Amino acid sequence: MGTGEQQAPVITIDGPSGVGKGTIAQLLARELGWHMLDSGALYRLVALGAARQGIPLDDETALADYAARLPVEFRAGEGATHGLAIYLDGEAVGDAIRTEECGAGASRVAALPGVRAALLARQRAFRRPPGLVADGRDMGTTVFPDAPLKIFLTASAEERARRRYKQLKEKGIDVSLAALLEEITERDTRDSQRSASPLVPADDALRIDTTSMTIDEVLQTVKQAAAPLFAPRD
Ligand code: C5P
Repeated sequence: MGTGEQQAPVITIDGPSGVGKGTIAQLLARELGWHMLDSGALYRLVALGAARQGIPLDDETALADYAARLPVEFRAGEGATHGLAIYLDGEAVGDAIRTEECGAGASRVAALPGVRAALLARQRAFRRPPGLVADGRDMGTTVFPDAPLKIFLTASAEERARRRYKQLKEKGIDVSLAALLEEITERDTRDSQRSASPLVPADDALRIDTTSMTIDEVLQTVKQAAAPLFAPRD
């Protein structure tokens, strides 16, 4: 900013696919009454929109151009997953962007520096009073490096595949656990080895291994870490 203006606080929640970032971020945002940024949704929207527009997933210039003018709208109301329903070109796409195929496409477009740069300002615009909970891969390292609290969640790939399997089963979607594990491992490799904003914890992030924790235990741990943000200052 450079204006000395007080910015709204941000809590960043980063980590690999299927670790439960979205769930924790959503619960935390709801409890605090803060806004929420699901940054993965933006990459998923670029992948979905590109497929629909016939833009090849390796055409960085065209993808970055599309990402810069992404015709997305977040509306409160029905069909909302993270508190807001997502519309691409006026069409509700909340379910369409959650497929494994779209996730894989997102991870490909997310490796392109031009696409990441095009989405930067859009992500930062979510930072509004009273505060923002931002979930993704590079929230603490690149998008909000000045966030007063950075969380990095991890869990073994097997445990993440099991969680995802359970989630999909509950939705009546039939998948194989082995295929999910393979998908998650591939995505981890691509996300952590890319040169543009790879998945790494910020130096000042609090790392929480959630492998044998319940959602509530993770939430309580994050809330404890966030408590100093709300301590009265004199
Ligand atoms: O979190 P989600 O699974 O929706 O993210 C989809 C993909 O988008 C990830 O695999 C990752 O490649 C990419 N992503 C990213 N940076 C973010 C959020 C998501 O590169 N901040």
